[in-house]
Amino acid sequence: MNEPWGDRRVGLVGQDGRTDAIADACRQTLPKEQLFAVSSMVIPGLASKCQQVTVGTIEPDTILRWAQQVSPDLVIVGPEDPLARGVVDELTKIGVPCFGPTRDLAQIEASKIWARQLLDRHGIDANPAYEVFDSTDGLREHLVQMGEFVVKPEGLTGGKGVRVYPEHFESIDDAVSYAADCIAANDRARVLIEERLEGEEFSLMTITDGRTSVHCPAVQDHKRAYEGDTGPNTGGMGSYSCADWGLPFLSGADVAQARGINERVIEALLGETGQPYRGVLYGGFILTADGVRLIEYNARFGDPEALNVLPIMQTDFVDVAWSAARGHLDELGPVDFEPRATVCKYLVPASYPGARDEVGEPVSVPTEVLGLPEVRVYWASCEQRDGQVLLTGSRSLAVVGIGKDLREAEVAAEAAASSVQGPVRYRSDIGTSALIQRRIDHMSQIRAHAGANRPGGRGTLG
Ligand code: AMP
Ligand code: GLY
Repeated sequence: MNEPWGDRRVGLVGQDGRTDAIADACRQTLPKEQLFAVSSMVIPGLASKCQQVTVGTIEPDTILRWAQQVSPDLVIVGPEDPLARGVVDELTKIGVPCFGPTRDLAQIEASKIWARQLLDRHGIDANPAYEVFDSTDGLREHLVQMGEFVVKPEGLTGGKGVRVYPEHFESIDDAVSYAADCIAANDRARVLIEERLEGEEFSLMTITDGRTSVHCPAVQDHKRAYEGDTGPNTGGMGSYSCADWGLPFLSGADVAQARGINERVIEALLGETGQPYRGVLYGGFILTADGVRLIEYNARFGDPEALNVLPIMQTDFVDVAWSAARGHLDELGPVDFEPRATVCKYLVPASYPGARDEVGEPVSVPTEVLGLPEVRVYWASCEQRDGQVLLTGSRSLAVVGIGKDLREAEVAAEAAASSVQGPVRYRSDIGTSALIQRRIDHMSQIRAHAGANRPGGRGTLG
C-alpha cells in the first residue's frame, strides 16, 4: 500500500457476497482494526473481516449517523440501493470521499429509460430499438408488430423485473397486462419496451474517477436459476472470467468496443451532470450479429462479477478505491490483474428463487475448504446467530475457484461447492467446457445466420 494511507479507516456499506469480496480485497493490505461496515444484518464474511459491523437499515440517515460514529476516511458502497437513495450525496456533504456515484449519476442504473436516452443524446450507438410507454394506448399493437420483445420496469427490481416475450409470457395479452402493471407500479408511470436482442451476454466493469478509466477483465454471468440456462432469472447463479481477461466467444475488437462504450458513457455523464462518476460503471452487454449492444448499466460492481475480478486484482484495491473516490486515478499508475481464470458458483437455498422454505436452516463449509489457496468463499444472504450460520432466503454464499485456465478454476470451484453442507443447491454446469462450448457455438450460429441473410452485409465481427 502507498505510504500516505497510514492508519486511515475504510467503511463498507452492504450485506452481500459482493460486499464480502470488497472486504476481502481491502483486507489484503488493510488491518482488521481499520475496516468497518454498516449492513442490514451480520453476514459471517463481514463479521470476521471487519473491526465492527453496525446493523441498521441502509437509508441515508442511518448511514450518515454510522459515518459520524465510525469516522471513515473512505466509504465503499457495495449494492445499488444506497446509491439510488443518495447515500453518497449525504456522505460527500460531511466530507467523506466515496467509491460509488451520487444519486444523479446512479440514475444510469435506477432508470433504464434515462440510461437509454443518455446514450441517444450523446450519439453512443449501443441501444437496441426501444419505445417508452406512459399508458397502454397503442401498446398492444406495438407489441404485436414487434413479434419478440422485452418489457422492462423503470426502477430497480433486483434483477428480477425484466421479462422477455415469448419465454416469460403465455400470450401477448399477458405481456400487455404486465406492462400495464409496470406503468401503474412506478412513480414516473412509464415502461420500457425493447427489441429482443439475440447473442451472448457479458459484463464489462470499468473503475473510474469520472475522467480516468480502468477496465476489469470481462466476465460472463449466468442469470437463469437451473442447469442448461433454464428456469426463471435470478440475481446471478455464478460466473467465469478467463486468464487473458477476454471471453471465449469475444474478439479483442468486441472487448475494445465495450470498453469504448463505457468510456463514452462516463464522459457523457460528466457532461450532463457536471459531476464526475466515481466508482464502478458496470456495462451489461450482449454480442449480437451486429456487434456489441447494451442490455443495461449498473452503478456498482456486479454480484457475482466482483467475485471474479477482485481476487485477481494485483494492485492494492484500497489504493484504487481511494484514488477513484478523490479523482486521482491518473496518479495511481497501471492497475494490474493476475493472468488467472476464475469460476464462481453461488450456493442458493434449494427452493430459490421461489419459496423460502429453507430460511433459518444452518449451512456450513468444511474448514479445510476455507483454507485452500485456489478457493475463495464469500458469504451473502446468511446470518450468524448463536455460533451457527443460518440461511436467510436469497443467494447464500459463493465459492470462487482460481486457476491457470478455466478448467483448473472450474475443478476448484466445483470441489468447494460440492463440499457445502445444508439445504442448498448450485449450478454445476457453470464454467464447464461443455457449457462454454455451447456459448461459442451459439455465437457462431448467430454470425453464420446473419451472414447468410445479408449477402455482402455486416455478418462478420471484429
Ligand atoms: P436486466 O435486468 O436489464 O439485466 O435484464 C435481465 C435479463 O433480461 C438480461 O440479462 C437479459 O438476459 C434479458 N434482457 C434484457 N434486455 C434484453 C434485450 N433487449 N434483449 C434480450 N434480452 C434482454
Ligand atoms: N450480475 C448481475 C448484477 O450484478 O446485476
